[in-house]
Order: sequence, then structure tokens, then C-alpha cells
Amino acid sequence: MAITETPASATTLGGQRLVIVGAGSRTGRLLAQAASVAGADLVLAGPDPRKLEWTAGELADPAEVVPVDLADEASIAALAKRVGRFDHLVSTAAMPANGPVAELDLTDVQRAFAAKVIGPLLLAKHLACQARESGSFTFFSGVAAWRPSPARTVMATTNGALAFLVQALAVEIAPVRVNAVSPGIVDTGSWDGLGADKEAFLRTIAERNPARRVGTPDDLIKAVLYAIDNPYVTGTVLHVDGGGRLA
Ligand SMILES: NC(=O)c1ccc[n+]([C@@H]2O[C@H](COP(=O)([O-])OP(=O)(O)OC[C@H]3O[C@@H](n4cnc5c(N)ncnc54)[C@H](OP(=O)(O)O)[C@@H]3O)[C@@H](O)[C@H]2O)c1
Repeated sequence: MAITETPASATTLGGQRLVIVGAGSRTGRLLAQAASVAGADLVLAGPDPRKLEWTAGELADPAEVVPVDLADEASIAALAKRVGRFDHLVSTAAMPANGPVAELDLTDVQRAFAAKVIGPLLLAKHLACQARESGSFTFFSGVAAWRPSPARTVMATTNGALAFLVQALAVEIAPVRVNAVSPGIVDTGSWDGLGADKEAFLRTIAERNPARRVGTPDDLIKAVLYAIDNPYVTGTVLHVDGGGRLA
């Protein structure tokens, strides 16, 4: 059989409609910038309209802004109506509920599951029928599922459940593809809360990781673009963790 029609380097986002949930900040915002440069027709979704407008204002081409809360099915249904036909959807959404099990608040736990498990399921429920056959969904899991630690039980469980959800959805909504990116420790800004301890924390992680570094947002964006672009990749978790789940 002849090997291939499309050179690996070809950009395939030109004119494709890409929905980004979580576009108002960090990885989602940077993904919007990269996808805009690659020619995507963007829908920027997330809980805070001001942040979405901020992202939109940074792009060379106009993008649609649609508020959505993954804990609210009505808002997901409204997003589906606004989006219409589309090619790809990426969700970076997370609402972590960290802390010792004995101190967990049920509402926080439910929001953590909404962002990583129930929300992605509802995105598939309301939007899969509008995705083009060559389209895809890409969700964000995380290394905590493969390397659990105390006070991160909800994070481990939600990220792990998402890994199984993408397998099940990949079968059920085929031929639309469904994948997850699972970051390790990535300096997206989400560790800035550590303040003066951040640098030491990142250094310790880098020393332990087989890749001997922490991740950059660009590492994650490359993985998302690969998941979107490769038509033979579905039901897969792409571990972008420097091998951190193993060490
Ligand atoms: N950075 C890391 O080291 C790391 C490690 C493991 C896994 N991950 C995963 O990688 C993904 C990206 O991480 P990140 O560091 O870029 O940033 P992040 O702070 O984890 O990003 C979370 C995103 O979720 C959005 N969001 C929050 N509540 C939402 C809701 N109710 N409905 C829809 N969206 C909601 C936020 O929007 P607003 O900002 O507008 O509120 C934000 O854009 C996350 O899923 C995270 O769990 C990251």
C-alpha cells in the first residue's frame, strides 16, 4: 500500500472550526493563540466572559466568545446551539478539590467531577452529533491519576476516570475521535500560588523526572495539535509528563 497522502508537516487547522473550553486562561489561552496562527476558526468557551474577551483580543482574527460552565448542563446545551457544526473540541477545564479525604467538601468534589468527568461526558452528549466525521474531542487528564499522593485523591480519581471515559467515548461516538492529554508538572502559571517555594518545587520535580525538566505550555499544545491532527489516534492518553508518572 502506498504510504501517505499528506506530509506530516502539513497544517490541517486552516478553516477548521475549533472549540476551546478553558480558553480564558493558561493552556487554553495559549492554545487559542497557536490555533489562530494555524488558521483555525475559533470558538472560545469558559466560565468567565471577561477572560475570554481578553483571549479574543490577543488574536489576529476574530473569534466567537461563548460562556460555559461544565457544572451546568443547560450552559453546555446552549454552547452546542451556538457552535453548530464543528471539527474539533478541546477542554482544559479543571476545578480541583484538593485536601485530606476527611476534610473534603461534597460540593467541591462534585465540581471537580463536573470539570473532568461529567462535563466532558455532557460535551459529548450535546456536541458529538454536530462534529464532522473527521473531528475530535481532546480532554485534559493529569499525572496524579498514575502517581497518587496524599490530599490529591479527588484529582487522581477524576483524572483516572477521564482516561477511561475517552476510551469508552472513542468507541461510542466513532468515527469522531476522542483522546486525552495527561500533563505532568507544567509551569503554566498554575503553580504560582506556591510563591517563593515555586522555584524549589519545580527544581525538585525536574531532578526526579526521567526527562530531567518540568513541562512548558508548548509541550502541551504540541500534544493537543497532534491529537487533533492524527486521524489514526483515538481512545488514547498522551502522557506529557517527562516520565514523571514512572519515577
Ligand atoms: N499545570 C500542571 O502542572 C498540570 C498538571 C496536571 C494536569 N493539568 C491539567 O491540565 C489542564 C490545563 O492546566 P492549566 O495549568 O493550563 O490550567 P488550569 O488552571 O488547571 O486551567 C483550568 C481551566 O479550567 C477552566 N474552568 C474552570 N472552571 C470551569 C468550569 N466550571 N467550566 C469550564 N471551564 C472551567 C478555567 O477557566 P477560567 O480560568 O476562566 O476560570 C481554566 O481555563 C487542566 O485540566 C489541569 O488539571 C495541569
